[in-house]
Amino acid sequence: MAEPAFQRWRDRVEATLERLLPDPAQSPARLHAAMRHASLGVGKRMRPLLVYATGTALGAEESDLDAPAAAVELVHCYSLVHDDLPAMDDDALRRGRPTVHVAFDEATAILAGDALQSLAFETLAAAPQPPEPRIAMLTELARAAGVAGMCGGQALDIDATGAGTDHDALAGLERMHALKTGALLRAAVRLGALAAGAQAATRAALDRYADALGLAFQIRDDLLDVEATSATLGKTAGKDAAQHKVTFPALLGVSASRDRLATLSAQMQDALADLDFRTGALSTLASTVVERDH
Ligand code: IPE
Ligand code: IPE
Ligand code: MG
Ligand code: MG
Ligand code: MG
Repeated sequence: MAEPAFQRWRDRVEATLERLLPDPAQSPARLHAAMRHASLGVGKRMRPLLVYATGTALGAEESDLDAPAAAVELVHCYSLVHDDLPAMDDDALRRGRPTVHVAFDEATAILAGDALQSLAFETLAAAPQPPEPRIAMLTELARAAGVAGMCGGQALDIDATGAGTDHDALAGLERMHALKTGALLRAAVRLGALAAGAQAATRAALDRYADALGLAFQIRDDLLDVEATSATLGKTAGKDAAQHKVTFPALLGVSASRDRLATLSAQMQDALADLDFRTGALSTLASTVVERDH
């Protein structure tokens, strides 16, 4: 990702997380260490980058965006800890390291996920915005994380696993992707807009970009599971087929999945063309989502 601001934004989110996460020397030390293992030092930080890219384009100061950027990343990190649990995807490798339940234990991983989510909302509740946008941000993140978002999508993923695929399943697959992955990515864009005080019309235009980005992100994730190595991904490649997950490549094949990514890429750039502020960073993030190798 070439955009010069991206490394600075990644550094900001790292520093904010470091400040927020509990001291590993304090009791309960194992829980604190697990929360830090899940959140610090690694990860593409795509959701914080979306918060900073959207918010700064709309005139917010970077310091006004630290809390929402960290909050959405904390929810994401929690979702990964729980996604990897034996009861879910049963993964041993994440971000190039043992998953939390492997490095610690299952009970600690469940609690670490729970506590990361609580910390996300505590952080957002203390954001510097006035009460009205702050409550709107809290509502947005809560919805995106819950049954109408990530948790709902994860439930659909579990229900569909091993169920086989048929060619009427595309709408169901798109809905699952929109919920389990799209909702939190869209929330990142919306948090950036709300933090900057954007009007409803601007937020609606940004939703078009974010919805295409969310679907593209999970299609790329599904393709990488087929095409990349565990070493590049930092997580176990080939898991989706091994676990009979319903994915884009499983349903449509690799080539049609790539075509779909190209269409979504055009939709993202179209949506950005309708916006009347500088969208360079959002455009770079759109390209990153479809071209990324991990
Ligand atoms: C992985 O998310 C899980 C999905 C939603 C597909 P990322 O690919 O953003 O994971 P990190 O944060 O970079 O590790
Ligand atoms: C995960 O989707 C979406 C989440 C809500 C965490 P995947 O199960 O495909 O994510 P990876 O491939 O394990 O990162
Ligand atoms: Mg999963
Ligand atoms: Mg998984
Ligand atoms: Mg995956």
